[in-house]
Amino acid sequence: MAYEYILTASEDGIGIITLNRPKILNALNLQLVDELVAELERMDRDPDIRVIILTGNDKAFAAGADINEMAEASAIEIMKRDQFAVWDRMSLISKPIIGAVSGFVLGGGCELMMNCDIVIASETAVIGQPEIKLGVMPGAGGTQRLTRAVGLRKAMEMLLTGEPISAKEALRYGLVNRVVPVEAYFQEARKLAKQIAAQPPLAVQVIKKAVHKADDLPLGEGMDYERNGFYLLLASEDRKEGMQAFLEKRKPRFTGN
Ligand code: HXC
Repeated sequence: MAYEYILTASEDGIGIITLNRPKILNALNLQLVDELVAELERMDRDPDIRVIILTGNDKAFAAGADINEMAEASAIEIMKRDQFAVWDRMSLISKPIIGAVSGFVLGGGCELMMNCDIVIASETAVIGQPEIKLGVMPGAGGTQRLTRAVGLRKAMEMLLTGEPISAKEALRYGLVNRVVPVEAYFQEARKLAKQIAAQPPLAVQVIKKAVHKADDLPLGEGMDYERNGFYLLLASEDRKEGMQAFLEKRKPRFTGN
């Protein structure tokens, strides 16, 4: 499929999506987000892809929603666009998404990063929700996911001042998984993707979903969900293979069945 604002590639079970509007710091216009979600859904269906890496460039993962598209539009026009419906589809992707982020990770860019399951950041990343400085507020999860990720007080400070935090601080608050030099963040994400791509794909997907349920469900319901996932995986071919390989002291060969 031909895209205008993203680049796509795949290798060794890893799908790679690169946001590609470098001149304006990967500002997220409506078309870019449509293309991104279409490709995420395509990769989710592709049996040769087990893990997805989402990245930008060294200078910017994304500096937020495209302000040009918002500046003149009325509230009713923006409501009718229903632009967040496509964002909601991102949370239905069943394969793990690894964010490899560097430079500006702001506004919608931060919200996009928080849609990733694991995040590798470069030391140069600056991460924040500056919407308040534009007279608005986040609309794609900035108040909800950030608060769940970093806690109420830090989220409040970031959202009310609009000031970004450094990659190191983001690491301290658990907003990213690892911080590495800018030369290494993509390779680090690829290494991690390879490791996860070698795991049994059904278990990967069931675990991803169960972990997200921890944010949505009361503990008892989450535990039920987990247990049902556990029973489901016992019925998989890969469970037989995994346990057999352990007993035979060899490496397992997982097929996704
Ligand atoms: C449109 C943007 C943009 C954006 C940067 N640019 N961010 N265009 N939308 N969000 C453009 C600039 O206009 C400029 O274009 C070029 O990118 C380079 O940016 P500069 O400002 O010259 O770079 P610099 O001085 O290094 O400053 C970088 C920056 C600043 C700190 C990131 O650009 C900035 O504050 N950007 C806006 C960040 C922001 O407020 N994001 C939240 C958006 S609201 P020209 O043509 O002049 O070279 C949002 C709501 C989310 O995200 C709702 C859910 C989708």
